[in-house]
Amino acid sequence: MKTRKASVKNLYFYADKIEFEFSDRYSIFDWGEMPDQIPGKGQCLLNIAKHFDHLLNDNSFKTATLGFDSQKMSQRLFPAFPPKIEAKTFTYKKLDPKNSSYLVPLEVIFRFALPEGSSLLKRKPELKESCINGIFLPECYIEFSTKLEPSDRYLSEHEAQQISSLDSTNFSILKEKTLGAAKLLQKHLSEKNLELYDGKFEFAWDHKKQELIFIDSIGIDELRINAKGLKLSKEYLRSFYRNTKWFDDLSKEKQQSTNWKEKMLAENNRPQNLSPELIAAGVKLYQLAEASIKNELDSSKVNELLYFQKSRKVFVLGDGGREHAIIKSLNNSPLTSQIYLNTKKQLDYPEHKLRKVYYSNKEECLEFLKQEQIDLVVIGPEAYLEQAYSDYFRQNSFPVFGPSQKASQIESSKDFSKKIMLEANIPTAEAKDFESAEQAIQYIQETPTEKMVVKADGLAAGKGVFVCDNKTQALEAVNLLMLEKSIPGGEKILIEERMYGPEFSAFALFDKESFKFLGTACDYKRIFDGNKGPNTGGMGTYSPSDWLSEEDIEFTKNKIFSPLLNYFKKHKLDYIGVVFAGLMKTKSGIRVIEYNARFGDPETQSLLPRIENDFFYLLDHCANSKLNKVNEISEKNQTCLHLVFASGGYPGIDGKALSLGNEISISENLKSQDCYFAGLDLKDGKLVNTGGRVLGISQMAKTRKEAKEKVYALAKNIEFKDMQIRSDIGE
Ligand code: AMP
Ligand code: GLY
Repeated sequence: MKTRKASVKNLYFYADKIEFEFSDRYSIFDWGEMPDQIPGKGQCLLNIAKHFDHLLNDNSFKTATLGFDSQKMSQRLFPAFPPKIEAKTFTYKKLDPKNSSYLVPLEVIFRFALPEGSSLLKRKPELKESCINGIFLPECYIEFSTKLEPSDRYLSEHEAQQISSLDSTNFSILKEKTLGAAKLLQKHLSEKNLELYDGKFEFAWDHKKQELIFIDSIGIDELRINAKGLKLSKEYLRSFYRNTKWFDDLSKEKQQSTNWKEKMLAENNRPQNLSPELIAAGVKLYQLAEASIKNELDSSKVNELLYFQKSRKVFVLGDGGREHAIIKSLNNSPLTSQIYLNTKKQLDYPEHKLRKVYYSNKEECLEFLKQEQIDLVVIGPEAYLEQAYSDYFRQNSFPVFGPSQKASQIESSKDFSKKIMLEANIPTAEAKDFESAEQAIQYIQETPTEKMVVKADGLAAGKGVFVCDNKTQALEAVNLLMLEKSIPGGEKILIEERMYGPEFSAFALFDKESFKFLGTACDYKRIFDGNKGPNTGGMGTYSPSDWLSEEDIEFTKNKIFSPLLNYFKKHKLDYIGVVFAGLMKTKSGIRVIEYNARFGDPETQSLLPRIENDFFYLLDHCANSKLNKVNEISEKNQTCLHLVFASGGYPGIDGKALSLGNEISISENLKSQDCYFAGLDLKDGKLVNTGGRVLGISQMAKTRKEAKEKVYALAKNIEFKDMQIRSDIGE
C-alpha cells in the first residue's frame, strides 16, 4: 500500500482501490497546506461526501465509490496518466477507451451564477450582460480545466476533448452527465434554501462497461453554495485572509511571476495564523454546511457566521505609541479593511491598511465618520474621553470603544474613583479629600504618621502624585498643588495612606454586562536605571507580570474588576472600553493605586502582541456591548518586552527644554516591523524627534531574559542626539 498526504486529504493506495481520509487541513489560493487546521472539518466533509454520493447513485449517476467507514471513503482506483512537460507545453498520451480504464485528466466546471470575482468574467466579460439578477446565467455554463498539471489552466472545448481521449459522442455524454448531476445538486440544495453557484466534477472512463463514472468526492470544497449571503463553501475560509498583508503580496506576486510561491517563501512571507475566533467560525461553517445540506438551513447560524465575512473600517483617535500598538493589532485582523488614524504627522506608517486623516474637533470627526461609514471608533488617550468625544459619537449612533465622559472619571477624578472603591469594597489606600489648603495642612500636622501620599484630584499628566517620606514633603506638595497651583488638577486633593510593595498593571475590557480580563504588564516609571530620577509616562514595560501567582490573577479578577462592574451596573454607568488598574501587591494583599479609563502607554506595546484573539473582534464586541459572546482571552505563552527611546531632557520637569528636532537613524527593517511610533515626524524629508517619548521597540521570547536580550540587540540600530534609554527594562 502506498500513502500520500495531500494538502486536504490523506490518500491510501491499494492495488485497485483508493481510500480518502478527509483531514482538518485546508489549502487555498493555490498556496498548498495552510498553517492552521479547522477541527472537525474532515469529519463533516466525509459526511457530506457520503450524502452526495447517495444522491448521485439514487438518481442513476454512477460513482466509483466502493463504500464508507467512520473515517474514510473508498473508491475504485483508476490509472492516471500525467502529461509530459517540455518548455511549458504539455503532451498527453493518447489512450484507447476500448482497452483501458483511466482517469480523465480534466476538471469539469459547471456554473449557474457568476458571483463577483468569478474568473469566467475575465475570460468572457460579455456573459455579464445576459445574467439574470446580475449573477444568474440564463443556462448552466460548462468549462474545462486541467487536473494533472502543476497548476490549473482553462481549456478550450476542443483541447479538453483531445486531452480526454474520448470520442465526440462520449465527450457529449460527459457534458450531459455534468449538466444532469449539476441540476440534481441544484434542485436538492434549493429545497434546503441553499443556492448553488458553481462546482466541479471529475470522471473516469470504465472500459469494461464503456461508460463514464463520477470519481472523487463532492462537498463544500468542490461546490460554491450561497446561504442567504453566506459563502457556505471553502471560499468562506478565503475571506479570513482577504485583508492580510500576505494576501496583498500574493495577489501582486501572482500577476508578476509563475514562481510566486518560491519568491514569497524566500522572503519568509507566509500566511499568518488564524485567531481563535476565526478558527471557531471555520468549525461552525463546516458544521452548518453538513447540517443544512442534510437537513435544512438554520438562519440564525448564518447571521453569526456572516460577521466574519465582512470587512470593516476603523477610526482611531490618538497618535502615540499606544495607538500604534492598537493599530498594529487592528491591521493584523482580517476583519478590518481600512484603519484611519487622526494625526497631523507626516510620517509614513508601515501598516498596509492605515490611512492618515486629520480633523481638529468632534464635529469634523463626525462628518468624516458619516462620510466614510466608519464601523468602529477607537479612542486611545484620556483627553478625548474627558472632552466627551465618546458620548458625542455614540449619541450619533457610531459604536465607540472608550467610556463616556462621566464613567471616565474613574481616571479623571481621583476622588470619584476612591468613592467607588470605598462603596464597592475594593481594596485600596485609605484617603481623605480636601478642597481647602488650610484643612489639608491641619490634617498633615495632626496625623500620627510621617509617610503619606498627596495627589491632585484631576488629570495632571502624571505630575500630580507626591509620595512623601515626611510631613515637610507633604506640606510642600500641598503648597505646590493648592497654593502655587503650578500643576493642573489640584483644586481638590487627596491625602492617602502610603502603601508598599511591587506594582503592576492589569487590564480588562468592560461593557454594560460583563468584563474580559486581558492580562498584566509592568511599567518602569522613572527616567533612570535602578528606578532613579523623576517619574515619566513610562520608559519600558514587560508583559505578563510573571512574578504574580495564579491566585493573584484570580484575586485581581474577582476583587478588583468584578466589584467594579457590579458598581457600574448598580449605578447605571455605561462603561464601554478598557479599565486599566494600577495595582500594588502589598503585605496585606493586592490593592488599587488608581484606575485609568484607557490602555496604558507603554504597557499596551507589550500587552497586545501577546493576545491571540482577533483584536477587532474584541473591541467591536466591547463597543457593541456583546462581550458576553466573547470566549476567554488567550494569551501567548511568551513574554513581550518593550523599550522606550526618549528625547534628551525628558521628562522636562520645571519647564526644562527637551532636545528636539534631531535626526533619527533607524534601519528600514526595524522601522517597518517592531517599531512603535510616538513623538517623531518627518521634517524636510528627515525623520526627527518631536516629543518626549519618541519611539519604542517590542520583542517576544520564551523568557523575559531572552526578550530583553532581543530588544537591546535591536536597540543598537536606533540613534539620535541626546537619546535616553534605560538599560535595565526587564530586570
Ligand atoms: P499615579 O500617577 O496615580 O499612577 O501614581 C504614580 C505613582 O505613585 C504610582 O505608580 C505609585 O508608585 C505611587 N503611588 C500612588 N499612590 C500610592 C500610595 N497610596 N502608596 C504608595 N505609592 C503610591
Ligand atoms: N504607563 C502608565 C500610563 O499609561 O498611565
